[in-house]
Amino acid sequence: MGNMMLCKNGDDLAALAADRILEAAEEAVQERDLFTLALSGGSTPEKTYVLLAQPERSQRMPWKKTYLFWGDERFVPLDDSRSNYAMAQRSLLARAPIPDANVFPIRPRATVEQTATAYAEILSGFFTMPIHGAPPRFDLILLGLGDDGHTASLFPGKETLHRHDAWVVSSPPGTLPPPVDRVTLTYPVLNAAREALFLVAGEKKASAVKAILEENAPLETHPAAGVRLAQGVLDWLLDEAAASLLQQK
Ligand code: 6PG
Repeated sequence: MGNMMLCKNGDDLAALAADRILEAAEEAVQERDLFTLALSGGSTPEKTYVLLAQPERSQRMPWKKTYLFWGDERFVPLDDSRSNYAMAQRSLLARAPIPDANVFPIRPRATVEQTATAYAEILSGFFTMPIHGAPPRFDLILLGLGDDGHTASLFPGKETLHRHDAWVVSSPPGTLPPPVDRVTLTYPVLNAAREALFLVAGEKKASAVKAILEENAPLETHPAAGVRLAQGVLDWLLDEAAASLLQQK
């Protein structure tokens, strides 16, 4: 299920995550001369983004060779307070020298389905890979975990969990707020990554963490369990509260 890293609290987790992003960027640029990063949404990564934008890390980040994508998005305007892009914009993009041309938000189109298709086309163009072929390989995908076991916008019991025919799909809302349609990368893209990093903080996540990491929960009830990288490194960064129900720490 990947490597587990325990942090004291949300602040330590954010610092460790920001360091890991920086290391992954340095490695990727050294090896391939570019760094592709898919950001996660929700509230947990906000602190990580702020820390990544602080001078001590930002000055070392190869921003000109870093390309930012999103793992999932809410079907709302990009300046809506519920938008995952908006969260990254205020915490990271507004504070770090990232060229605009390197930022690929999931821009809302007329319908949520069109939004998903348009994003798959953007990925296809960027990675120069045919849209119905093997999925692109991100250097790093950041992921969150919902109290209900969801990750990205792959929600329990939904058809999206079985979509292997597309890189990006639309989804009806899950049970957690906000109750808006979503667009999400699918498992084939998540699982093709070179590295995926779950950022999980808070007591509310503890039972989902235990179910996934120690009880073999199926992806149908706990979609985060479906993240199993084909050839890559999967890390779980947990704070003490999120890890509190685990037997093995
Ligand atoms: C979203 C997400 C989602 C998120 C988890 C955890 O758009 O809501 O990307 O998968 O990562 O729900 O969210 P929190 O960090 O807010 O708990």
